[in-house]
Amino acid sequence: MAAASPSTWLITGASSGIGKSLALEALKAGYKVIGTTRDVGKAEISCPEFSVMGGIWKGLDHAQRNAFDQFVKCSQEHSIDVLVNNAGYAFIGGVEDTGEDEVRDQMEVNFYGPLRAVRTCLPAMRARGSGNIVLISSGAGFIARPGRASYSASKFAIEAVHESLSQEVKTLGIKVLIVEPGAFRTPFSSRIITPAQYNSSNGFSEAYKGTTVEQMVTASRNIMSIPDFVKGDPDKAAQAIIEAVIGGHDYLRLPLGQDCVTALESKIGQLQRDLEATKPLATATDVD
Ligand SMILES: NC(=O)c1ccc[n+]([C@@H]2O[C@H](COP(=O)([O-])OP(=O)(O)OC[C@H]3O[C@@H](n4cnc5c(N)ncnc54)[C@H](OP(=O)(O)O)[C@@H]3O)[C@@H](O)[C@H]2O)c1
Repeated sequence: MAAASPSTWLITGASSGIGKSLALEALKAGYKVIGTTRDVGKAEISCPEFSVMGGIWKGLDHAQRNAFDQFVKCSQEHSIDVLVNNAGYAFIGGVEDTGEDEVRDQMEVNFYGPLRAVRTCLPAMRARGSGNIVLISSGAGFIARPGRASYSASKFAIEAVHESLSQEVKTLGIKVLIVEPGAFRTPFSSRIITPAQYNSSNGFSEAYKGTTVEQMVTASRNIMSIPDFVKGDPDKAAQAIIEAVIGGHDYLRLPLGQDCVTALESKIGQLQRDLEATKPLATATDVD
């Protein structure tokens, strides 16, 4: 694919998984790419092709408050056309078993970090009257399964920011895309964090033995290699995202993977059924 125009991409968490695939595909397509990572030395080892192909590493941890100033500097040094908020991890644990600090950590990485990046890139995009903001969310940004309250809360919340933003900047020439991957073949599962208080009892408390919390936490903890049911190819995800951005998408959400499409259809059906069931009650509460 030839670059339509000189275009600069800033991708957070570009050293691994979907971010890495996206960074390499964008470089292959002829775009300039700046990739953030918490550890440039490790990133050089895990993704040596990136620098060889002209990619620029930017060492920062988007979850730290000082990342705001680092993003501002980056935005001033490079004229960012496409921001991809990709970096993230999943905390898996029951609501009762999860400590408040564990929720805060999840929100710092999956909510405040992306929010920081967005707020720092917007002034230059507004001034130019063009730009693309892409959020790598998740099917969990639309569906909250057992054991995923914190992860889903962080993704629901950051999706809300991007959904609202998409309407705020529509007339300013800036497009917003929310990507919702299903299960993809990346090291993501190996980085899952579970409740510290229950590390010695497999990540859940005795009260939740035999429940969906045990099933979800156990399934997440015991992943030694990528299971067969995980069908998503991160390179194909990267190609789909580039196609959507360069093609000038006119939709807000892009689900990725058959599993995610099926899950979304099921959730939409459930919402529709709830709406039908509650309509008589819901519509009877307006003033006479
Ligand atoms: N793989 C899936 O099945 C799947 C499904 C749905 C959604 N997603 C979403 O896709 C995005 C990318 O995930 P992936 O599958 O590519 O996973 P990955 O291979 O683990 O990559 C995650 C990236 O995020 C950064 N990161 C991880 N934990 C971080 C932390 N605590 N603080 C700051 N940065 C952190 C890492 O960057 P450094 O270590 O270089 O700093 C890494 O490059 C995430 O937002 C995830 O929620 C993935």
